[in-house]
Amino acid sequence: MSDAKIRLDGVSKSFGGSASVVAVDSLSLDIRAGEFMAIVGPSGCGKTTVLNMLAGLDRPTSGTMSLNGRPIEGPGAERGVMFQDYALFPWRTVRGNVEFGLIYGPAGRGLSPTQRADRVNRTVEMVGLTGSEDKYPHQLSGGMRQRVALARLMANEPEILLMDEPLAALDAQTRVILQDELLRIWGQDRPATQRRTVVFITHAIDEAVFLADRVAVLSSHPGRLKQVIDIDLPRPRGDETRRSGDFARLSQSIWELIREEAYRATMN
Ligand SMILES: Nc1ncnc2c1ncn2[C@@H]1O[C@H](COP(=O)(O)OP(=O)(O)OP(=O)(O)O)[C@@H](O)[C@H]1O
Ligand SMILES: [Mg+2]
Repeated sequence: MSDAKIRLDGVSKSFGGSASVVAVDSLSLDIRAGEFMAIVGPSGCGKTTVLNMLAGLDRPTSGTMSLNGRPIEGPGAERGVMFQDYALFPWRTVRGNVEFGLIYGPAGRGLSPTQRADRVNRTVEMVGLTGSEDKYPHQLSGGMRQRVALARLMANEPEILLMDEPLAALDAQTRVILQDELLRIWGQDRPATQRRTVVFITHAIDEAVFLADRVAVLSSHPGRLKQVIDIDLPRPRGDETRRSGDFARLSQSIWELIREEAYRATMN
């Protein structure tokens, strides 16, 4: 046995019948406990498909996926998911969305109403939505909705975070702030054994390099693992990291790896 927390072994996923689309092809990848794993690749390469399967919302056509050595057969409370399209509850306010898991899910077990409210307030503040607690999703901008979705996930404090382009709709400043915040929540100031496990999907190569321990680069049509790159930038990371030559070099090397793919995807 290895120390893999999450293991994908020869995972393939096709959609449709005879004229089927192979979205993911023979993907094998181990994600270690406490690791921050980023997945990058061009549009349509199967990133969301992989995340849905990790979340237990979809099954591989072939191959196996396991968590703590057991097959993933459905969703679980240890995995918190943030979807690409936010998936907010339109009939609930910002507060109602953020507190949802704490009220109806196992994450709020053992919390008093005051503790629950504190957690919600803290999380709302963290994503910069204080003052908007009573608004409904349709009253918010895209970036604000994304922050609500992030807060809803964070409020539950799941052991495993599965995130699909969680910061994509944010303006540049908010994005940098939330990247720093995300690293804090993940546990970059804690020993490696006390960190959460994160699978973070992004289009943004610099974001992947800034956040991750390793970056898995997928190629498209069908989605295959092209390479896994170790990001050995020191932690804790911050603005100094963003300005460093090593950061630029790593970002550039990943960009070169997927440049051809990205152009091909754009032309399709
Ligand atoms: N439910 C579905 N039915 C049919 N085809 C699907 C389905 N979901 C995804 N696909 C196809 O599988 C491929 C991978 O899609 P996926 O959404 O995983 O890509 P992605 O890497 O997340 O793209 P993006 O970066 O644009 O979000 C695409 O060709 C897509 O059209
Ligand atoms: Mg996607």
